[in-house]
Amino acid sequence: MKGIVLSGGAGTRLYPATKAMSKQLLPIYDKPMIYYPISVLMMAGIRDMLIISSPESIDDFKQLLGSGEQWGVQFSYLVQNKPEGIAHAVLISKEYIGQDSFTLILGDNIFWGHGFSDILRVAVQQKQGSSIFLYWVSKPERYGVACIGEGNKVLDIEEKPKQPKSHWAVTGLYCYDHHAPEYAAQLKPSSRGELEITDLSRCYLQKGQLNARFMEEGIAWLDTGTHESMLQASMFVQAIQERQGLLIASPEEIAYRLGYISAQQLLKQAEIMKSTNYGKILLRLVNES
Ligand code: TTP
Repeated sequence: MKGIVLSGGAGTRLYPATKAMSKQLLPIYDKPMIYYPISVLMMAGIRDMLIISSPESIDDFKQLLGSGEQWGVQFSYLVQNKPEGIAHAVLISKEYIGQDSFTLILGDNIFWGHGFSDILRVAVQQKQGSSIFLYWVSKPERYGVACIGEGNKVLDIEEKPKQPKSHWAVTGLYCYDHHAPEYAAQLKPSSRGELEITDLSRCYLQKGQLNARFMEEGIAWLDTGTHESMLQASMFVQAIQERQGLLIASPEEIAYRLGYISAQQLLKQAEIMKSTNYGKILLRLVNES
């Protein structure tokens, strides 16, 4: 299983903050936004990841993330020349995907909470078909919404419907088998000129190969595409980290806990950040063990 982190896009809803910088490099509280989706993939046991971004920003991501060796993972990089849609990103990843299944996560999505990694770990075991991850929201008209039938089967997915048929929003996390680029190549651009991920999921639905994974209560899903949602996400992360004295979405910590890096390697990275709470919590982790 491979992973793809989508960090292109125009970020127009965050102007002027994103005029000269990729949205996914902006901080959510104490770390770059992209650390959150990378951490999700790491927690699912995925170690081979593709980072997709725009021509202007790809080098910034390379500088931030490097080869991935420091976290015991491997990063590859790919440029998406224009933000032509999430399914377009799948299409251009054909060579990287090869014969493997993969998990795609949007670079501005945050998932956190008890039981979340278990759901994801089960989904990534699946070698055929696709999984989408559904989250109960109070205002479904703002999202892609799954219409659910008997036996929790997905009957359809509607993009921002005026009269939603359910409260189950489709989140920015998807598992696909290696056929996805081939299906993406058959899609037509939508009225906004993008290859839509909803249309790709519909291909799997028509083949009877779309699984819905329902996120339980107690899991937080936040997307951070606007100034308000970024601030809310930052406050959420700050409140939990401060209360519990732990880190949300620290790739260093996850790498250490999963045994991808040694205490020595963690110490080296923590030392550089020792003037921050982030670094102090990592140092404590080394000392505790
Ligand atoms: P969006 O929030 O739909 O788009 P955006 O990031 O361009 O922002 P805005 O609407 O403010 O202009 O994108 C969701 C995520 O997917 C985000 O992390 C960027 C990424 N993305 C790509 O990498 N390539 C694309 O072609 C698109 C449409 C999005």
